[in-house]
Amino acid sequence: MDVKNHNKNIVKQFSKQASGYTAITSHSEALDKLISLSSASKSDSVLDIACGSGIVSCEFAKHTHDVTGIDITQGMLDEAQKLQTKCDLTNMTWQIGDVDNLPYEDDSFSIVISRFGFHHFLNPFKVLSEMKRVCKPGGKVLVVDVSLPDSKIKKYNEMEKNRDDSHVAALSLTEFSNLFKKVGFKSLNTDFYSMQISLKEQLKASFPRDKNTLKNMIITDVGVNDLGINVLKLNEEYFLQYPIHIFSLKK
Ligand SMILES: C[S@@+](CC[C@H](N)C(=O)[O-])C[C@H]1O[C@@H](n2cnc3c(N)ncnc32)[C@H](O)[C@@H]1O
Repeated sequence: MDVKNHNKNIVKQFSKQASGYTAITSHSEALDKLISLSSASKSDSVLDIACGSGIVSCEFAKHTHDVTGIDITQGMLDEAQKLQTKCDLTNMTWQIGDVDNLPYEDDSFSIVISRFGFHHFLNPFKVLSEMKRVCKPGGKVLVVDVSLPDSKIKKYNEMEKNRDDSHVAALSLTEFSNLFKKVGFKSLNTDFYSMQISLKEQLKASFPRDKNTLKNMIITDVGVNDLGINVLKLNEEYFLQYPIHIFSLKK
């Protein structure tokens, strides 16, 4: 798919997801881990790329000097503005744009973060290079996303493409490691958490191509784990457990 059509598809998908995105409880989990891994402080200037409804941006704004959030979907940025108002934060700027070409000078921010964005990017190398470019020397670049062993990636991507057709590809742990080397990062810290969401809640917030196939793929994966998300059945309800990796890189 070319960039123009892909971006159109992203905006279409996230304009639909926008109103329910912040309310999903699991989207607000483990934020303390991101703050502590980044060693965020009141002297930091933060950029959150593909910031969506601003969950991560607003958390960082509570701990740092200022935060800028950039996203391509206006509906998500409208939600981000609402969250900022709710949190009573005044040190934030929102910008609409494509993170393939960040509209900022070199060395502008001390922390540059992306959560749940990389699996939507057609050119992860370009985006990560841009994140590095706008980060100050000695600053931190944080990439937070689902990552799986190579053996699970194919099936996982098949499931996610059905659930959200703007999904490009989750990167395996090997692919992330190669990407960080290729962009020229030397030091890397990794942390992990499991993001649990019920199948019911996930389906309510999603706009799948084929809901029955998706449901079936998930339900039949209990005890098999071909998808890499350790589907659990508890009291007649199914739970997906997304393996989230936090990669902290130093420029
Ligand atoms: C799954 S949401 C993640 C939102 C937020 N980062 C979070 O962690 O809650 C993915 C976001 O990426 C944005 N996005 C995807 N591709 C983009 C691009 N090329 N440029 C800017 N934003 C993009 C979408 O609009 C959407 O808001």
